Amino acid sequence: MENIPQSRRKFITTLALLLGSGGLLWRYLTPTVARRRQVVARAPRADVPVEGALIFRQERVALLREGDVIHALGLVCTHLGCTVTVTGSGLSCPCHGSRFDRQGRVLKGPADRPLSRLKVEEMDGVVEVLDG
Ligand code: FES
Repeated sequence: MENIPQSRRKFITTLALLLGSGGLLWRYLTPTVARRRQVVARAPRADVPVEGALIFRQERVALLREGDVIHALGLVCTHLGCTVTVTGSGLSCPCHGSRFDRQGRVLKGPADRPLSRLKVEEMDGVVEVLDG
């Protein structure tokens, strides 16, 4: 049998333990199931008015339609979190007067960041707003 020096044996044992525990740690920290897709709001495409908006007050989300294109905006004001209202010309915050265009861009402060844009998917004439 080969005579392996004690320090080399200790090194190999330590390395094997580190690799083994690293594998277990990786398995513990990574999710085993892909993150579930979370639908925040859902509506038939026909319910979203052209050049208008369909508002989900409780979810604080609006679906806006420009021609054939539908997008979703979060209605949480980026200043201090009040609920933004959709008006004929854009969106406005009743708390401190911030105004946003229909793309969510800031037109007037004090808000300094755009409204959040949410992911939208459409299938079989139904539009879904997804979280994240
Ligand atoms: S919370 Fe909307 S402008 Fe202040």
